Amino acid sequence: MGGWKKQVVKIIDSLIPNEIIENECIEKYFEPFLGGGAVFFHLASKYDIKYAYLGDINKDLILTYYAVQKSPEKLIDELQILSDGFLPLSFDERKEYYYKVRDEFNNTSEDFDKIKRASQMIFLNRTCFNGLYRVNKDGKFNVPIGTYKNPLICDKNNLRKVSEVLKDVKLVCNDYSSAEDEIDENSFVYLDPPYLPIKENSFTNYDSKGFGIKEQIELSDFCKNIHKKHAKFLLSNSDPKNTENEDFFIKHYDLNIGPFKYQKIDVRRSINRDKNKRGPIKELLIYNY
Ligand SMILES: C[S@@+](CC[C@H](N)C(=O)[O-])C[C@H]1O[C@@H](n2cnc3c(N)ncnc32)[C@H](O)[C@@H]1O
Repeated sequence: MGGWKKQVVKIIDSLIPNEIIENECIEKYFEPFLGGGAVFFHLASKYDIKYAYLGDINKDLILTYYAVQKSPEKLIDELQILSDGFLPLSFDERKEYYYKVRDEFNNTSEDFDKIKRASQMIFLNRTCFNGLYRVNKDGKFNVPIGTYKNPLICDKNNLRKVSEVLKDVKLVCNDYSSAEDEIDENSFVYLDPPYLPIKENSFTNYDSKGFGIKEQIELSDFCKNIHKKHAKFLLSNSDPKNTENEDFFIKHYDLNIGPFKYQKIDVRRSINRDKNKRGPIKELLIYNY
């Protein structure tokens, strides 16, 4: 988890609904834009989560979580092979190895060997530039090799721990909206959608379809729907006041009228290639409790 994400998790932690803190328990937890799952793993370390729904539209991501959940030992074996093949090499040899794995990952079907594919996904994440996940318009992973000297490719203890935490969760590969039917008054929903595209830095292509303005508006309707069901939700997004589309969130979440509340926080981002553009950025947290 990057430093920027850690800062966000800390602030989200201070905004958790009171009854969760008092009961040390979450009846039903939903995180339908799972990504790296930073908030889920943090909450699972603090609270007893009775039911968890973790979803993402990215097939390879969910396939990887599934492999960690169901077959940690087989996955560790595959990752160890990749780690042993990569680490002893010189930088030029590592480059060749990395692009070979990336090509194989991009050119084989996800149905071929799921454990192997999950191991390639973790390998690429650990060895690529800044641990980024980004695909081109054809859905091919296109992040170049990173410069880590000694990346921890096969973190056995962590994989076993994560497998245990994921043991009873429901993993879903689908659009976030498919969670709606299950969400009720006992639910806490954390939403971390791809950011509203900001001019200078638009890392929103987690999948080939992208998540644009239209999808952001649909998401605001989703939040209104689950609010009507008396679920509690917390949504994070980048504050567009950094650049453009000034009143997007105020308008679509009726933030000047209520009942939703919001907070702006300052976080430091490090995903811009240009060091001069890695300064503080505002993050917006919207919630209904
Ligand atoms: C900002 S990231 C989430 C980051 C995550 N909270 C973390 O800690 O790493 C957004 C995630 O939403 C997923 N996503 C994009 N469009 C989606 C959709 N329509 N439904 C569900 N997930 C989607 C992406 O694949 C990506 O993993």
